[in-house]
Amino acid sequence: MAQSDQGRAVRELFGSDAGAYDARHYGARYRTFISDRQEFVSRLFRDLGLPAGAPVLDVACGPGRFLEEAASLGLAPVGIDASGDMLRVAGTRLGPRARLVMGDAAVLPFESCAFDVVNCSGLIEYIPEPMPLLREVLRVLKPGKQALVSSTNRFSPAYILDPFANAARRSAVVRGVIRLLRLPFDDMSLRERGYRLTFHSPRKLASLMSNAGFEPPQVHYYHLQLLPHPLDRVAPAAATACIRVTDRFLSVRPLRILAEGLVVVARRPA
Ligand SMILES: C[S@@+](CC[C@H](N)C(=O)[O-])C[C@H]1O[C@@H](n2cnc3c(N)ncnc32)[C@H](O)[C@@H]1O
Repeated sequence: MAQSDQGRAVRELFGSDAGAYDARHYGARYRTFISDRQEFVSRLFRDLGLPAGAPVLDVACGPGRFLEEAASLGLAPVGIDASGDMLRVAGTRLGPRARLVMGDAAVLPFESCAFDVVNCSGLIEYIPEPMPLLREVLRVLKPGKQALVSSTNRFSPAYILDPFANAARRSAVVRGVIRLLRLPFDDMSLRERGYRLTFHSPRKLASLMSNAGFEPPQVHYYHLQLLPHPLDRVAPAAATACIRVTDRFLSVRPLRILAEGLVVVARRPA
């Protein structure tokens, strides 16, 4: 698929329904991959112990949950996203506590060496050629400061039903039945995928970061879910119960490779 077609399809996906995305992933009583990612990234971020007022950037900030965490720590958050609808939701959440910019993550409209931390969650999967994005993240970081880059792990067993889910999305009949039965899938989830997702392995994500100029990339693992998507949406209470048990296996080093989420923390050389 041509890069421009991919970009257009991703912009379309996130160009509306930002409120539904926010409610689905962050507003539920149950844990999801995305709510766990936000919590895990926030923990890593808090551990960096930045001084009040430090400028931090969230690339592909979506509805602004990371920015909210940064604002609550007294930092000076800036968010960039390609979707005006996502920025509208983020703006309602944060008001004047964050600066929001519409733009493309691969061409960041910021000065070099401007930020004390750059976070980028839930974007790299949608970018087939991630090197320009990672070089931009490096450029806008101050020397010696760190970036947090998250990816879905290509070795996660949570995606084994994806070929069936994608086939279902392509069938108007299946979509009709899902709506008739009032199964818990919103329009965004049922839409046919006109884009390709790329999930990285831990080693690949770390090597991409190294090749972009970061040192030394450290991989963190979270959310070891064995129940495949989209069953977690049909039975969210069971999925949450399951993750409470399986997450404990993350402390067993060889089993980490099955985690659904990866975060690489890496430094711009001083
Ligand atoms: C899965 S959401 C993640 C949002 C947020 N980081 C979170 O964790 O909830 C992906 C976001 O990336 C944004 N996005 C996609 N392509 C982009 C691009 N090229 N530049 C900037 N933002 C982009 C979308 O608009 C969407 O808000």
